[in-house]
Amino acid sequence: MATPPVYQNLIGGKFVDSASGRTFENRNPADTREIIGIFQDSDERDVQAAVEAAKRAYRHWRLVPAPKRGEILFKAAQLLVERKEQYARDMTREMGKVLKETRGDVQEAIDMCFFMAGEGRRLYGQTTPSEMPNKFQMSVRQPIGVCGLITPWNFPMAIPSWKILPALIVGNTVVIKPASDTPLSVYNLVQCLLDAGIPDGVVNIVTGSGSRVGEPLIRHPDVQVISFTGSTEIGSKVARVGAEGMKHVSLEMGGKNPMIVMDDANLDLVVDGAIWGAFGTTGQRCTATSRLIAHRAIVGELTERLADRAERLKIGNGLDETVEMGPIINQSQLETVQRYVEIGKSERARLVVGGQALRDGDYAYGFFHQPTIFADVQRTMRIAQEEIFGPVLSIITVDSLEEAIDVANDVPYGLSSAIYTRDVNAAFRAMRDLYTGIVYVNAPTIGAEIHLPFGGTKGTGNGHREGGIQVLDVFSEWKSIYIDFSGTLQRAQIDTYQVGMDE
Ligand code: UN1
Repeated sequence: MATPPVYQNLIGGKFVDSASGRTFENRNPADTREIIGIFQDSDERDVQAAVEAAKRAYRHWRLVPAPKRGEILFKAAQLLVERKEQYARDMTREMGKVLKETRGDVQEAIDMCFFMAGEGRRLYGQTTPSEMPNKFQMSVRQPIGVCGLITPWNFPMAIPSWKILPALIVGNTVVIKPASDTPLSVYNLVQCLLDAGIPDGVVNIVTGSGSRVGEPLIRHPDVQVISFTGSTEIGSKVARVGAEGMKHVSLEMGGKNPMIVMDDANLDLVVDGAIWGAFGTTGQRCTATSRLIAHRAIVGELTERLADRAERLKIGNGLDETVEMGPIINQSQLETVQRYVEIGKSERARLVVGGQALRDGDYAYGFFHQPTIFADVQRTMRIAQEEIFGPVLSIITVDSLEEAIDVANDVPYGLSSAIYTRDVNAAFRAMRDLYTGIVYVNAPTIGAEIHLPFGGTKGTGNGHREGGIQVLDVFSEWKSIYIDFSGTLQRAQIDTYQVGMDE
């Protein structure tokens, strides 16, 4: 095999080795004999240098007019469009999900890029009338400074784009630490920004482990915004560090997303939606459908049809266009899935299909696992409560809409949910009562679009949203400005204007 390319950290516009000179390999999870690239195994010194570069760049980037910043993003979006196929292939090689999905992942980055480019000409604030005559007032968004971004491996380009682009359009600068399983896609995204003319130091990349790069990044006193997507366990640690440093912290974490299927649902749609929702991205989405809450009247037929479809899914290397489900990201995640299959069995759920890792023939060098379905799952079982992040679907039987919604809400997470029904009253009740950040009607729990707020309730997040214009709140602070053009000391005329002010 050809020598794999070496990727260096990006600091202050220059590609440089890590301070220690150490590196790590990024391998293909479908065939671990293939090395995608060699990346820098960085430490605190590299973080320090990157934050300094970002801080320097902030001085001028914050003053670049937002529409001009938007033009750079617009150009980057056009470059992403041109390079989409190549970047999708790179992503399938480093992450494993099938080409159709990696094209979608790059497309999300393109959409976000165009969306935020347009925001450069809006970034709306507010004007309100004053209590006083001859006085004007407004509130405007202000950038904050250096943002520390920590991104996951399941959406290797989309999620970084949800963080980098809103940060930049407001006028911040960033240091990003990509997931060590999928750093190449962040390099690809950032390369488009560089080629579009982003100034040196505005975007910096430092690769390496969570403990040696992530932790010093979030602790750094000059990093005032932290945006993190990952596990709830690490997220709550990030929140504590952020609280100590009075930082803006946006957290996007786990899910245990329910799909409710009522007795009047169109089962053809349900089967399609559930297979795609549960086994798309090999179940490794925070929005994955991991619980199917089905009405007793249809659960038998539905379980059979799902098992039949799951059994026939073609599993393999995502570069093969006929493959429907790729590998799991790495050995440890595969072991987690296997552990949960054992837990499900020991909890006496009924294993309907799957349940095995695949090791023979072409599967020998990857982390493959069968799509797996458990039926007769009780709502309190661990496989019904805990995020597995793999191709495992739990089917829970219910007798009414009320019970379905109650079961749906009875987990520590609240990202996404879905209901399949033809009853408009049931649909509206579910929309109102499902306590999740996203609700789908007659569509699976996945497939969020970037111009709507994305995020969840309870253990899924800390109240912020990515996507939509709502994401701008993470990366900006409001400044309220009062301009008095009366030329007099208006507060002294309190009797005249009866404005009810304290003296
Ligand atoms: C994630 O799973 O972390 O909703 C993000 C979706 C995607 C984003 C998922 N657009 O499926």
